[in-house]
Amino acid sequence: MDTRILAGGFDSEECDVLVVLAPERAAGVELTGHAATFNRLSGGMLQDLYDSGEFSGKTSEVVLLHRPAGVKAKRVAIVGAGATAKFGSAEARRAAATVVRQLKTSTGTTCFAVDDAHSGFAGAFSEGAVTALWEQDFHKSTGRRENKLSSTRFVVSSATPDLETSLNAGRITAECQNFARDLVNEPGNLLPPRELVRRAKEMAEQLGLEIDVLDKDRMSQLGMGSLLGVAQGSAEPPFLIVLKYVPEKPAKTSDHLGLVGKGVTFDTGGISLKPADGMEKMKCDMAGGAAMLGTMRALAQLKPSIPVTAFVPTVENMPGSRAQRPGDIVRSLAGKTIEVLNTDAEGRLILIDAITYAKQQGCTHLVDAATLTGAIGVALGSVHAGAFTNNQEFLDKVIKASKAAGENLWPMPTDDDYRDQLKSAYADIANIGGRAGGACTAAVFLKEWVEDTPWVHLDIALTAYLDEAKPFCAKGATGFGVRTFVNLAMNW
Ligand code: BES
Ligand code: MN
Ligand code: ZN
Repeated sequence: MDTRILAGGFDSEECDVLVVLAPERAAGVELTGHAATFNRLSGGMLQDLYDSGEFSGKTSEVVLLHRPAGVKAKRVAIVGAGATAKFGSAEARRAAATVVRQLKTSTGTTCFAVDDAHSGFAGAFSEGAVTALWEQDFHKSTGRRENKLSSTRFVVSSATPDLETSLNAGRITAECQNFARDLVNEPGNLLPPRELVRRAKEMAEQLGLEIDVLDKDRMSQLGMGSLLGVAQGSAEPPFLIVLKYVPEKPAKTSDHLGLVGKGVTFDTGGISLKPADGMEKMKCDMAGGAAMLGTMRALAQLKPSIPVTAFVPTVENMPGSRAQRPGDIVRSLAGKTIEVLNTDAEGRLILIDAITYAKQQGCTHLVDAATLTGAIGVALGSVHAGAFTNNQEFLDKVIKASKAAGENLWPMPTDDDYRDQLKSAYADIANIGGRAGGACTAAVFLKEWVEDTPWVHLDIALTAYLDEAKPFCAKGATGFGVRTFVNLAMNW
């Protein structure tokens, strides 16, 4: 897909579809900008649409007009923008995604008429368009569904270098989000830990990132007993992927951002086996790790001014004759011992060794993303990911990045009182804390290893994967987190 900027009007634009945003109709709302221009050129077609009741301008409404008068475009797609006062980058992204998802099988060139008032959302428009092109159909023997959409243009009144930069950044970020989604949708047989490693290496080579992959021997020499305990039930060996971006012109700061992502390529639950129903979704249990790989892929191109290192512990959680047993006691890299009361609470066990390793590697700030608990879905559904921290200021910074990214985070508590639920009679800590507040006890478990390093943990168990498509998003992996982490690093 090609994004370009054409200065001037859109009436002479030859394209298959011209996209015009139109506001939600309410008392006193006057048409402005391109909506007003199109209405005038077409002899009042937009006004007719409102008057007929066929279109009210709510977000996710799309109406197609074939060969309207006054423009060269073969079709005009009128897209609801919602209330003007509420229109922001999230709305821009969704509007672009909604219309592209509807049009991509029937249209070649699409031209977005971007109002001056919306030029600050250029990046969001291009992100929406690129993420909307993605489908999870590459294992169909009939081949990938064809995207006819061959080019996307943005018509603005004046093309500035800033606008070009943000369109480009939006495209890159969205492509990397799609890269993460492709990893998440791969089933467990096609993407075991070694395949995740292969893809990370391939990417590092292509984009000039430093990569170090710790294998089982190195991890056991270091003493990562907690991570290795989870892996021991699988014939597939575990790895810790370390991907490093080093800026050419570093900023005057000693900050070093560490991104830790859960990389369980398939989670059966282990000996504490999960029920069969829906278990196939557990191929998504490396979504946090995939988000970190996608983020690094974007950062290698967008080049932030701070060093960023991703740590992706990757294992398969299987039952088997060598599998970890409930009641086993393991020793983590940091020296603390853990009683594994439930082998299905495996994410936290691999994350803590990666967190300790990240601190040893000099990271001053840590963000982790993990499909960690079903409990976060009980609390927040699939609308928000839970955001936990030991440092309010850092969380505020991450939330700010997430707002611009249109990814919803909701703050959750990590009070020390939750620690009581993790008491073990035989080891320093237990790996589960009962049903009550399950997402919080999981976060507090991680916090024990993070100690004083500013840290934010995102529990993305239900935001990483959609069971049903939305008008602006396909079913399956969402790539949640990539846009937030890219913004965080770029605006550091
Ligand atoms: N990978 C799961 C969490 C999950 C649930 C991800 C639903 C995506 C959708 C995690 O490893 C897990 O099994 N968590 C347990 C923890 C429990 C044993 C304390 C859970 O949520 O039931
Ligand atoms: Mn589990
Ligand atoms: Zn899991």
